[in-house]
Parts: sequence; structure tokens; C-alpha cells
Amino acid sequence: MGAGYVGGPTMAVIADRCPEIQVTVVDLNAERIASWNNPELSRLPVYEPGLDGVVARARGRNLHFTTEVDAAIAAADMVFLSVNTPTKTRGVGAGQASDLRWIEACTRQVAAAAQGHTIVVEKSTLPVRTAETVQTILAAAEQGGDGAIKSFAVLSNPEFLAEGTAIADLEAPDRVLIGGQDADALEALAQVYGHWVPAERILRTNLWSSELSKLTANAFLAQRVSSINSIAALCETTGADVKEVARAIGTDTRIGSRFLQSGPGFGGSCFQKDILNLVYLCRHYGLTEVAEYWEQVVALNSWQQRRIARLVVQRLFNTVAGKRVALLGFAFKADTNDTRESPAIRIAKDLLEEGAQLSIHDPKVADEQIVRDLAQPAGMGESTWHSCIDPVEACQGADAVLILTEWQQFRTLDWSAIATVMRRPAWLFDCRAIADAEAARAAGLQIWTVGEG
Ligand code: NAD
Ligand code: UGA
Repeated sequence: MGAGYVGGPTMAVIADRCPEIQVTVVDLNAERIASWNNPELSRLPVYEPGLDGVVARARGRNLHFTTEVDAAIAAADMVFLSVNTPTKTRGVGAGQASDLRWIEACTRQVAAAAQGHTIVVEKSTLPVRTAETVQTILAAAEQGGDGAIKSFAVLSNPEFLAEGTAIADLEAPDRVLIGGQDADALEALAQVYGHWVPAERILRTNLWSSELSKLTANAFLAQRVSSINSIAALCETTGADVKEVARAIGTDTRIGSRFLQSGPGFGGSCFQKDILNLVYLCRHYGLTEVAEYWEQVVALNSWQQRRIARLVVQRLFNTVAGKRVALLGFAFKADTNDTRESPAIRIAKDLLEEGAQLSIHDPKVADEQIVRDLAQPAGMGESTWHSCIDPVEACQGADAVLILTEWQQFRTLDWSAIATVMRRPAWLFDCRAIADAEAARAAGLQIWTVGEG
């Protein structure tokens, strides 16, 4: 249940690797389901390298996308709950706790529509002990008002894929985590993954460890990004270079080299929401110091996003009013069309607030998405934005260009062509430290690179 960034790719890979299992992905959003069924594979609702090939092999064979939710539940031996769990926006815990209304709605629908024995798998990221709620709702249906005999087992099976590498992550996961008490259910799910994941990579834990491991993994990953971004700021003021520092510390096998790339701050739908959820849980259990510790990871991240917009304004003589500023990249990372919590959104909004005219180029993000994210339609003039089909067009007449997403094509930009169309003095703000700085400097641009003193 849930044909989103997780449900779609995850179930497509299961179908691809387990041809004898019929996989049906359901969603209430008819438009999304129609896109998953689109014969043109370039128009799937999620952009992920390799996803089109997987869908092409399995769709129509043992992979189906439909809005017929009840029928799919009734036919299923196993139901994965893969719906959204965003941060609550109102009521108790607003701004921190997860909004579990979609998980509860799904669970109630499974309770009502299931037939026979059904294994219910929590695939969404959930606060620790959510399985208790899921079990309680399902148990009420077992006792049955409608006379039908049904039974349930509940498992936790959080997803660790990262967007942009979802298919590679699903096909060769570091580990698959399954939490639960019911040995038969655990074995059944382990067998599904056993089609392609080596047995030693399938970890079994109790329900609560599994639920909490997912929040913890994201908290640790996000913490590394905030840690390196904090050091980047210190590098900039002391003459050190964060790339050199990252290499120096990353060669220590206890620290490791991954997730030490300084940038405009982490984005994506999950890091911030999952840490805030952890913070909320800690406060709920009276662990104030623990809550405050993790809260700082998010605070540092917001600061990093804000300081980039501020320093752009400073370098442009303290005003960007009416000036054209080009943004290269709007997605929260490369190789995805997802913009949820993208640092580009906050940076763009801050620059619009200062009166800039933004020209935005992203290879995969649709204009309608930018309209929603910036909460204003495209336009021309002060405090407006419009999109451009390529980087050179975006830089036309611009005083500054910001690299916000690490798309491969931005590593090899033709800086002499770009510099010619910009207004002088012209600035490059390389927020991902990926540009060919020598070429940009030779073309006459002034350069600020994140983490470079
Ligand atoms: P998403 O918003 O892309 O997809 C969720 C889908 O669920 C939507 O299409 C929505 O219409 C559908 N839905 C909601 N209620 C429904 C219902 N009652 N019946 C059927 N469909 C329903 O979200 P996502 O990014 O796929 O994330 C889903 C979960 O997975 C979240 O808990 C998230 O934290 C977790 N997660 C996400 C990622 C990621 O990279 N995006 C990675 C790991 C875990
Ligand atoms: C992250 C985790 O990596 C996944 O394991 C997890 O399943 C997922 O969240 C989730 O629960 O949603 P994702 O957000 O898709 O995956 O992408 P990441 O590669 O983790 O990047 C997150 C953000 O951190 C991006 O904005 C990225 O640019 C930034 N980042 C990452 C850095 O700034 N520096 C780095 O070194 C790494």
C-alpha cells in the first residue's frame, strides 16, 4: 500500500527478483497509479536510474499497479504498509511527532478487507512501538464483528534505500532488517528477500529494535552531514579545506570515508522528519538531554542553509534586489526528481525575500513542482523565479550562479561560455564543491566554495 518513492521501487525489485510472487502496488492517488502504468517508461512518477528496466521486465507479468485497494488486500498473503509518515503540522507534537493517520487508515482497511491469514509488514518509517497500535487494530478485527475468520502477524521491515541509488541499494542491500515475534511470519518474509539477498545480510530483531534502528540509522547519517558542515564553516574562516580534512579523517577506518561531503545542508523527506520524531520520542520518555543532543543536528542544518543565502547577498554588495541569480539544481540530491526539504527551497525563498530574480535549471525537476515549493508561479522581475532549459540560459545576465545539486553535468560545465553571458563582476557559489574552480577562475569569475578557506 503506497506507490511512492519507497513502495514503487521496492515492490518492483521484489517482483523482478521473485517471478513466482504476484506483487500488486495500490494507491488512493489514481493519477500516480496511472503514471506507474504509463507505457512510456520515461514518465514513471519516480525518477531513479535503472527503475525503468526493472518495471519493463516485471510490469504486467507479476507486477501490477491499481487503485482497487480492497481487492488487492483480500487476495494478499502479505501486505506492506509503505505510506507517507510526515511530521505533524498541528495538534499535540506538531512540528516534531510523526503524523500516523495514513498508517492507521491503511491498518484499518487491511483489518476490514483481509481474508484468511495476512502478514502485515511495516515498511514506512515509524516511531518505535507503532507496531503495538497496528497489532491492536488488527486484533480487534480477528475477534471479528463480521463473522469472517481472519488472523494477522505484524512485522517491521524498514527500508534503507537512498534516492538516486534506490535500485542499486535494493538489489544489493547492506542489510535487510526484519523485526517481529512470529517465527513463521519472519521466515516467510526472509524467504522473499532470500531470492537475492545473502542469508547473512538478513538481520532479525525484535519489533522495537527494528523500528528504532531505522530512526537511529537516519539520525547517525544526518549527524555526519551536520558534523562535516560545521567543520566546513570553520575551514572557511581558518584557511583549511574541508575536502582535505574529510580525506584525512575518513581514512581512519573507525570513522570511514562516506557521508563526509560538505554541502548546502541535507534535504530529503526523511532526515529532518525522522530526527524530529526521535527528539519527540526522547522528550516523551523524559530524556531531555538526549532530545537536545539530536535537535542540534537539525538546528545546524537549518543554519547551514540560511548562511549560504546570507553570504550570497553579502558578496553581491549587500543587495540582490532586482539582480538575476542562477540556481543550478533544485532536487535535494543528484539523480532524483524529488525536492522534498531540498536546501534549494530555503535558499531560493531567502533570495526571493531579498528581491532577487531567480533563473532555475534542474535536469529532472518539473516546473509545477517548483511552483508548489516556492508557493508562487513563475514570473519576471524582482522577487520572481523562472526555469531555464540549460545552465547557460540560466546564467544569462546573472550576477551570480549557485550550484545547489551535485548533478554530474554540473561538474563539467563550460565556464568560459557561462562567464561570457554573465554580468561582471560575476560570482560562482559552489555549494557542493564540484565545479572546475580553475576553469571558472580563468574565465574571470569570483568563486566561493563551501568549506574552502
Ligand atoms: P510518498 O509520499 O512518495 O508515497 C506514499 C504514498 O502512499 C502516496 O502515493 C500516497 O497516496 C499513498 N497512500 C497514503 N495513504 C494511503 C492509503 N490509505 N492507501 C493507499 N495508498 C495510500 O512517500 P515515500 O517517500 O514513499 O515514503 C513512504 C515511507 O517510507 C515513509 O514512512 C518514509 O519515511 C519511508 N522511507 C522513505 C524513503 C525515501 O527515500 N523516500 C526511504 C526509506 C524510508
Ligand atoms: C537517506 C538515507 O541515506 C537512506 O538510508 C534512508 O533510507 C533514507 O534517507 C530515508 O529514510 O528516506 P536519502 O535522503 O534518499 O536517503 O539520500 P542521502 O544520500 O542520504 O542524502 C540525504 C541528504 O544529505 C541529501 O540532501 C544529500 O545531498 C546530503 N548529503 C549526503 C550531504 O550533504 N553530504 C553527504 O556526504 C551525504
